[in-house]
Amino acid sequence: MPAIEFEGGQYESEPGESVLDCLTRHGVSVNYSCRAGVCQSCMMVAVEGKPTPVSQLGIRETLKAQDHFLICSCVPETDMTVAVPDRAGSLFETTVVSLDRLSADVIRLRLARPENYDYRPGQFLNLTNAAGISRSYSLASVPELDDFLELQIRIVPDGQVSSWVANGLQVGDSVTISQSAGECSYVPGREQQSLLLVGTGTGLAPLVGIARDALRQGHAGPIHLYHGSSAVEGLYLVDELSAMDRVHENFQYYPCVSRGAVPDGVRAGRAADLVLQDFAKLPGWRAFLCGREDMVKGLQKKIFLAGASMQDIFADPFIEAKD
Ligand SMILES: Cc1cc2nc3c(=O)[nH]c(=O)nc-3n(C[C@H](O)[C@H](O)[C@H](O)COP(=O)(O)OP(=O)(O)OC[C@H]3O[C@@H](n4cnc5c(N)ncnc54)[C@H](O)[C@@H]3O)c2cc1C
Ligand code: FES
Repeated sequence: MPAIEFEGGQYESEPGESVLDCLTRHGVSVNYSCRAGVCQSCMMVAVEGKPTPVSQLGIRETLKAQDHFLICSCVPETDMTVAVPDRAGSLFETTVVSLDRLSADVIRLRLARPENYDYRPGQFLNLTNAAGISRSYSLASVPELDDFLELQIRIVPDGQVSSWVANGLQVGDSVTISQSAGECSYVPGREQQSLLLVGTGTGLAPLVGIARDALRQGHAGPIHLYHGSSAVEGLYLVDELSAMDRVHENFQYYPCVSRGAVPDGVRAGRAADLVLQDFAKLPGWRAFLCGREDMVKGLQKKIFLAGASMQDIFADPFIEAKD
C-alpha cells in the first residue's frame, strides 16, 4: 500500500484510505473539519507523488498548479510526501467591525475587509478561533457594495467556533480568516435566466449575497429566494428581503415555516417542497442551494429531475465538522 511521508514520519496507508485518515489513524495531528472535500481546511501540498484529480476539485487553479490538494478526499495511488502549505498569502488577519443578533440564535459578524481580499458573494471563508480551530462561513456581503465582510453565524450550543463568536468576540478584536473558496456565486451572463435560491437556517447568508450581486449586475430574469425554517423565530432579515421584493420587480422572496404558527406573508411548509409545488419543471434554470446537508442534497436531485442541468445547480451543504 502507498506510504505517506509527513514532517519526517512515514505512514503506511490501508486500502481505500484517504491521506487524512491514514495520518489521523497514526495519531498525527493535522487540520481538518468536514472530511468531505468541501471546507478546504485540510489542504496540503504534494511535495512528491501526484494528488488524485478528485482531491483537487474546487480549489483555485493557481494552487492546483502548485500541487495543492485536499487530503480528506485523496486516496493515494502512489507513495506521497505531503506538507502543510506556506499559508502566507492565503491567511488574513482582520478585525471585528460589528456583532449583532439577527435572531435568537443567529449572529451577524462583520469584519474589516483586508486589502487585496478578493471574493465573490456566496463563497465561503474559514474563520479560526482562539484555539486554532477553523470552520467555514459563507459571505453575505458584496465587495462592490460593502466595505466589510459579512458572515451570518448560527450559534450551536457548545459549538467550538460559533459559541466562541457569540461569547468570546468583541468589536475591535483581531481574527484570522482564510481566502475565499467555493463555486456557489453568481457569474454574469444569461441575464434572462430564471434563478432559484433555496436556503435553510443560515443557508440564507450566501443567498443574500448572491441575490444582491445578481441584481447589482443587472440580472433581468426572475430571482426566486426561498428561506426555510422549522419555526417562525428562525426566520431573519424578513424586513430587508421584503423591501428588496417590493423594490425589484424581478425579485421574489418566500419565507417558509414548516411547524407551528404561520403569520401572514409566510408560507406554510418546507421550503424544498414548496419550490417543487410552485415550479414542477425547471429546464434552463440556475439554482443555488445552501444550508442543511440533507435538504441541499435531496433538493439537488429533485431539481435535476425537474429538468435543470447539473452544471446550473450550485450547492453548498453546511457539512458539520467530523471527528
Ligand atoms: C461550505 C460551508 C459553509 C458554511 N456556512 C455557514 C454559514 O454561513 N453560517 C453558519 O452558521 N454555518 C455555516 N457552516 C457550518 C459551520 O462551518 C460550522 O459547522 C458550524 O458553525 C458549527 O461549528 P462549531 O465549531 O460552532 O460547532 P462544532 O464544535 O463543530 O460542533 C459542536 C457540536 O454541535 C453539533 N453541530 C454542529 N453543527 C450543528 C448544527 N448546524 N445543528 C445541530 N448540531 C450541530 C456537532 O455535531 C457537535 O456535536 C458552513 C459549513 C460549510 C461546510
Ligand atoms: S475539505 Fe477536507 S476536511 Fe473539509
